[in-house]
Amino acid sequence: MAELDRTQQHAPAPKDWTYAPAPESRDVVRIAERYSNFVGGEWVEPSGTYATISPSSEEPLATVAQGTDADVDAAVVAARDAFANGWSELSGSERAKYLFRIARILQERSREFAVLESLNGGKPIKESRDVDLPLAAAHFFYYAGWADKLEYAFPNRRPRPVGVAGQIIPWNFPLLMLAWKVAPALACGNTVVLKPAETTPLTALLFCDVLRQADLPAGVVNIVTGDGRTGAALVEHDGVDKIAFTGSTEVGKAIQRRLAGTGKRLTLELGGKAANIVFDDSALDQAVEGIVNGIYFNQGHVCCAGSRLFVQESIYEPLVEKLKRRLTTLRVGDPLDKNTDVGAINSAMQLEKIRSLVQSGVDEGAEIYQPPCRLPEKGYWFAPTVFTNVAQSYRIAQEEIFGPVLSVLTFRTPDEAVEKANNTPYGLSAGVWTEKGSRILWMAQRMRAGVVWANTFNRFDPTSPFGGYKESGFGREGGRHGLEPYLTFDGEGRHDA
Ligand code: NAI
Ligand code: MG
Repeated sequence: MAELDRTQQHAPAPKDWTYAPAPESRDVVRIAERYSNFVGGEWVEPSGTYATISPSSEEPLATVAQGTDADVDAAVVAARDAFANGWSELSGSERAKYLFRIARILQERSREFAVLESLNGGKPIKESRDVDLPLAAAHFFYYAGWADKLEYAFPNRRPRPVGVAGQIIPWNFPLLMLAWKVAPALACGNTVVLKPAETTPLTALLFCDVLRQADLPAGVVNIVTGDGRTGAALVEHDGVDKIAFTGSTEVGKAIQRRLAGTGKRLTLELGGKAANIVFDDSALDQAVEGIVNGIYFNQGHVCCAGSRLFVQESIYEPLVEKLKRRLTTLRVGDPLDKNTDVGAINSAMQLEKIRSLVQSGVDEGAEIYQPPCRLPEKGYWFAPTVFTNVAQSYRIAQEEIFGPVLSVLTFRTPDEAVEKANNTPYGLSAGVWTEKGSRILWMAQRMRAGVVWANTFNRFDPTSPFGGYKESGFGREGGRHGLEPYLTFDGEGRHDA
C-alpha cells in the first residue's frame, strides 16, 4: 500500500513532455510600413513619427505618428464639425446601424485583429482570439442596442449627447479599451478623438479601416497616435467636452487636477490591487484555476488582476502546493503560438518596473517561487512568480505591479479577510471563493470594490458596469451605467456645438 501511494505521488506528467509549435499565421494581417493620423475620415501626414515594435521579438513593425498639439487640434476640429453637422442630429436607430455594422465587421475580421493585437502587444493569441476580439465586438453590439432606446434608459430626462469626447486608452487591452470607449460615445450621439497607448497603436489604426468599411461619416471617430504629450494635448484642448481615461493612477490624478474648474466632464479608470479571497470550504482545484486566471491572464497586465491572494490559514499549505504545481504547467513564450499561456511583457519600461518591484519583495523578506521555464532571448519576458511569506506592509502587497506576480497572504476569520482586503488605496475588483451563498453576499457587501467576482475571476460582459472606488477612479463603463457619462440631461449645463 505504501508502495502504491508513493508511485501515485511521483507520477505527474512526464518531465520532458513538450508541445509541438502551433503558430498562428501572420499572413492574415497586412501591416503598412507607415501610418498617419486618422482625422476627418482621411489619413493626415504627421510632423513627427516613431517606430512601434513587437515586444516578443523587439522587431520594428511600423512607423506611426507622434501626434502634436496641431494634430490633436485638427482632430478635435474634425470631431466638432462632425458633431454639429449631422451626427448629433441623426436618429438613434440610424446610429445603431453603424454600430451594428462595426460589430459585424470586427467579427468577420477577428482573426486579423487578434494576430495584430498579439504581435504589437505581446499577449497570447489564445487570449486575443477568445477574449479581446469577441468582447470588443460584443461591446459594439450591446451599445448598438441602446442607441435608439436612450429615452427608455433615462425616462423623462431628455438624454442628449455631450459633444466631443477625448479618449485616452492603455496598452493592456488596446482594441477592447477602444471598444469600451468608442461604442457608448457613438451610441449616445457624441463624436470622438481617441489616443491609443504609445506601445500598441496598430489595432486602433486597423480599426480606421473598419470605420471606412462601415461608411461611418467622416470625423465621427478620429485617431491620433503618440505618447503622453499627445494625451496631454487632448486633455487641455478647449474643444473637448469630456475626457475618458484608462491608465495609471498617477496620470489620472494629473488629469483630474488639470480639468478642475474647466467644466469638462471626466471619468477615470485607474489602477488596482485586487484581493482574491479563498475560504476553506471552497473547491480548491477550481480556486487554483481562478487564481491563475486572476493574475497570469494577460501577463498580469490587468487593472483588476487578483494580485493579492488571501488564503484562509487552514488550507494555506495544500492550496499553495497545488498552485505551485499548476504554475509548472504554464507555457511562457511566443504570443502567436496557440499553446502559449503567458506571452511577452508589453514594453521594456514595464519589464523594468516589474523587476524592481519583485526585487523589493525579495529584499523585504518575502519568499519567491518561479517555476522552471526557459524564456526567449529576444524580447521582454518575466516568469510567472509567486511570493509567500508576504507582510501587508511590503511594497509587493501594496503597489500595483501590473505583471505576472502574485503575493500570498493569509487570514483566519471572514472579518479579518474583509479588513485586510480593503486595506488598500485601490478599489477596482475583488474575488471570493466559498461554497456558501450567504458568505458570498456577506463578503460582496463589505468589499470596497467596483466588481466582486464569486467563484470566478476576470469575467467581463458588456452588460455589466465596471469601474472603481477610491484611487481606482470613478465613473462606470459597460451596462446602462456606461451611457451616463456620454449624456447630458434636462437641468444640466450643455456645451453647445
Ligand atoms: P500611463 O497612465 O502613463 O498611460 C496610459 C495612457 O495615458 C497612454 O495612452 C499614455 O500615452 C497616456 N498618458 C500618459 N501621460 C499622459 C498625460 N500626462 N496626459 C494624458 N495622457 C497621458 O501608464 P503607463 O506609463 O503606460 O504604465 C504605468 C503603470 O500604470 C503600469 O505599470 C500600471 O501599473 C498602470 N496602468 C494601469 C492601467 C489600467 O488599466 N488601469 C493601464 C496601463 C497602466
Ligand atoms: Mg506613463
